[in-house]
Amino acid sequence: MNKHDSTFLKKFSMVIGFLIALTLVLILFARHLNTLLPQEMTAQAKAQTAARIAPIGAVYSGSTGAAAAAAAAAAAAKAATSQAAYGGTLDGEVIYNSLCTGCHTSGAGGAPMLNAAGIGARLAKSGLETLHKHAIEGFTGATGTMPARGGNPALTDEQVIASVDWMVAQSK
Ligand code: HEC
Repeated sequence: MNKHDSTFLKKFSMVIGFLIALTLVLILFARHLNTLLPQEMTAQAKAQTAARIAPIGAVYSGSTGAAAAAAAAAAAAKAATSQAAYGGTLDGEVIYNSLCTGCHTSGAGGAPMLNAAGIGARLAKSGLETLHKHAIEGFTGATGTMPARGGNPALTDEQVIASVDWMVAQSK
């Protein structure tokens, strides 16, 4: 072995030694980094989490449930409609004078007037039940179009019937 070769060997083994040391350092660093990662949940931890979120995740019904809320909303809507139309009055004259008179007093648009030839003739021809039904549901006949509930959807069936009965009573 000449001098040149031994110098090379010395330097070469120093480089190899350095690389081995570097490898060890990297392995240790990688192990350290691995401990910093969130660990996979154990079965016990999973059970604890499930127990913790159970009240939120469970189906909730009963007195404060959606069914009760929907029923309350429906009741409120019903109360609002029954309040809306003329204070909920069942006085046929009041309702007639507030709404139906617009057509039926003058006969506008072919509306039968409150006399024997008008509403009186309708009663003789169709009967009271049909007049109630046509006033509630609306009706298109030979002379024109009667809008459902006189055009006020807030009127209840009872209110429309009361108005028709009052009209009939005036038409003899
Ligand atoms: C926009 C005008 C108008 C208003 C408002 C109106 N009506 Fe009429 N109504 C008519 C017309 C038009 C007819 C006739 C339809 C036909 O026979 O062609 C009619 C017909 C009727 C009839 C007879 C139905 C039949 O079968 O012959 C009744 C009962 C009646 N209206 C009740 C009412 C009551 C009660 C109100 C108020 C709540 C009212 N109307 C409001 C236009 C109106």
